[in-house]
Amino acid sequence: MRFLTAFLLPACLAAQALAQGKSNKNKDPVEEFTFTVEATFKGKKIAQKEIKLAKIALGKDANPGKKLGLEKKKEKNEKKKKNQDLESELATRGPAAKNPTTGSANWCGSVKHGTAANQVKLIHAYFQHPTCTKRTGQIYPQASAQWAGIDGDTWGGALLQSGTVCKFDNASATVRNEAWWQWLPNGAYTIGSLPVAPGDWFEVTINTTSNRAGKVTLSNISKGYTYAITISGGAALGRLDAEWVVERPLYGSSLSGFPKFTDVWFQEAYATQVSGTSKLGILGAAQLQIPNLCASAEYDNANAVSWSL
Ligand SMILES: *[C@@H]1O[C@H](CO)[C@@H](O)[C@H](O)[C@H]1NC(C)=O
Ligand SMILES: *[C@@H]1O[C@H](CO)[C@@H](O)[C@H](O)[C@H]1NC(C)=O
Ligand SMILES: *[C@@H]1O[C@H](CO)[C@@H](O)[C@H](O)[C@H]1NC(C)=O
Repeated sequence: MRFLTAFLLPACLAAQALAQGKSNKNKDPVEEFTFTVEATFKGKKIAQKEIKLAKIALGKDANPGKKLGLEKKKEKNEKKKKNQDLESELATRGPAAKNPTTGSANWCGSVKHGTAANQVKLIHAYFQHPTCTKRTGQIYPQASAQWAGIDGDTWGGALLQSGTVCKFDNASATVRNEAWWQWLPNGAYTIGSLPVAPGDWFEVTINTTSNRAGKVTLSNISKGYTYAITISGGAALGRLDAEWVVERPLYGSSLSGFPKFTDVWFQEAYATQVSGTSKLGILGAAQLQIPNLCASAEYDNANAVSWSL
């Protein structure tokens, strides 16, 4: 995720402007990139004029973990913490924490791989938007983005992702909590009309219909908001990587500071593949960790947690 500028556009106008190409000075690098947004509240359609998308980014970022050349490091199983609401439920499941760990500059979470012969088709997870607090010694803005996505790890050319972000603009700012989606290298869009608060449960599903088209669905499940963004003309995905990540995003060309955040559990985390009915789960996924800031571990094949250090 990467942010540069912010300007408000209704969703339908944004889609039209992007589709217009030449005359649009804010056009995205992939000219035929286009999308439509449908939203419901408790099953009732939200009018297009009520849907607020803000285009907030251009450029690309992916997981630069490999460039860091960081040594793999083991995190002890007992370091795993549990989301309060699910503590008792999860405590009855067998902990695993045998996944390999690897360092990253900006991603903290689980990365699993499909194959070129049987690509990732869909990724799913539930997660709770965390409570974020400023971290002493970190630069501003400080931000934490939690998301599920396809590609950006071994496949660097594109990344389709959606989730929430908490952000402190500066040392005196209060936190902003927002929902967003992005098809890199195109910019991200925040969904201003989808309210986000700490503790809210979200469900994210990204269902690709080809390597350049797909549908992102993001819901506040208890309250009844569902946003479905149908996208085509995205940069070609390899559909090789399935990810459940808490990220320290890029703002401009700099990584944000990383606030502290309450544990983010990705639940019912799975990805499906183009062929077959078997699912890619968390077991065997690489656990990416940002040294001194954040760690992650699997709990079982459907549940993983990322936590602040
Ligand atoms: C801090 O950020 C807030 C917006 O979150 C802004 O209103 C305020 O002016 C900023 N303060 C400084 C000192 O930049
Ligand atoms: C989102 O869902 C939570 C329950 O998980 C609910 O308490 C909260 O009010 C909802 N948030 C909004 C802004 O609708
Ligand atoms: C995903 O998209 C396919 C079309 O490619 C559709 O048949 C399927 O029902 C969708 N799955 C979900 C869970 O939305």
